[in-house]
Amino acid sequence: MFQTLPGFREFYPEDCSIRNHIFRIWKRSARAFGFLEYDVPVLEPLELYIEKSGEEIIGQLFNFTDKGGRQVSLRPEMTPSLARLVAAKANGLKRPVKWFSVGENYRYERQQKGRLRAFYQFNADILGEEGSGADAECIALAIHTLRAFGLQSRDVRIRLSDRTLWMLFLENLSLSTAAAEAVLLVVDKAERVSAEKMKEMLGLALAKVGESGNVDVLMNELQVFRTLSSLEAIEEKLARKSSDALVNRLVAWRSLIGRLDAMGLGDYVQVDMGIVRGLAYYTGFVFEVFQADGEGRALAGGGRYDHLVKKLGGPDMPAVGFAMGDVTLRNLLEEKKLLPNFINAVDVFMVAMGEDAFRLALADAVRLRDQGLAVEYPFKTDQALGKQMKLAAQSGASFAIIYGSDELAKSGVTLRDLRAGEESFVPREQVVERLFAVFG
Ligand code: HAM
Repeated sequence: MFQTLPGFREFYPEDCSIRNHIFRIWKRSARAFGFLEYDVPVLEPLELYIEKSGEEIIGQLFNFTDKGGRQVSLRPEMTPSLARLVAAKANGLKRPVKWFSVGENYRYERQQKGRLRAFYQFNADILGEEGSGADAECIALAIHTLRAFGLQSRDVRIRLSDRTLWMLFLENLSLSTAAAEAVLLVVDKAERVSAEKMKEMLGLALAKVGESGNVDVLMNELQVFRTLSSLEAIEEKLARKSSDALVNRLVAWRSLIGRLDAMGLGDYVQVDMGIVRGLAYYTGFVFEVFQADGEGRALAGGGRYDHLVKKLGGPDMPAVGFAMGDVTLRNLLEEKKLLPNFINAVDVFMVAMGEDAFRLALADAVRLRDQGLAVEYPFKTDQALGKQMKLAAQSGASFAIIYGSDELAKSGVTLRDLRAGEESFVPREQVVERLFAVFG
């Protein structure tokens, strides 16, 4: 038997109904915040991701040469395409641009729990607004969405950090911008490697950008800074390094946290300088969503990326957004028993005794389906009443219409309410109206 490719999923009907549930809540949440839906191609020029997404993504691209000799890649994320879309029409768009999308992305990663090669993301982004109110709105939307699935602050945590603050801190340690960025790529992996390994990676990262320095001292500084977990701790750590840039940054922090508190979302948010994000375009506040108990891979991630639209040929346009993945989300919802039970219930099941009765049932089925009801009947016309009633019960239908010879002799049918276990005789010409009144 053929197997699927590693990291790709098949969706049986139960899986599709779960996926529909997830998509429905994603879309409903986006609408609650006034976001408009957009979409972009699944296959893009490879160039779009080189530089724009950064080293980590480049290693995971699902890229190939097409039959026209073009270098192309399946999209690993939506953000560069979104930035291009906005860049192309930036002057004609009402600002701020608040757009969302639900779509599949592809990354050639090693398959592991919570990580596949094809996965869906809910992306929501605000472009054209530089104030931290937009950052707060994106974080609030992420939390709103998780809550709409039934998750609470005891289940999930937004880990909030800031690349601007990181850069100010690293520049204070006399690192060049290039070195600081290389160091941040190492900090991004710090949680998953030993201190020894991290030190080795730091040495290599600095050497790569042509900087030497005392790796031990730097390592100590990084270990302290990346474990800061409150605004007060950050302020205390940076108190002696005060500059205008730093003062302004702390004002933005207070404003962001103040807004989230005002929305009653403070319990969901944990300041955590250990989050820096692996993607190259982030510039300011960054965040990731994890299970509150720290288990598992990220449920969502995002942040500010103020230069990407310009890099793609548009005007200078600040931007912030996030993406939530379906894989870790579904795992968590399953674990917390927050997925609804899906039964493939039809509304009406038709039971007909003999070929003539079946023809009448078929005609009524068309009328009921035209009214939007879900109708089923057995394909075989020679089954006993008992067998057909069993099929009706298995179908999950609320009503059965029985086309028996006695009823038809009186130009009627038996309408059986399968839940209540009650039945009545109904003239055939009234059956559609009668059912439509019930399901209305
Ligand atoms: P990201 O952190 O790379 O960010 O991905 C966001 C989320 O997508 C992750 O937290 C995870 O839930 C899911 N995800 C990523 N890779 C995989 C995978 N291989 N398998 C399953 N799920 C995965 C971005 O993609 C940014 N473009 C988000 C963004 C939007 N930033 C600003 N706007």
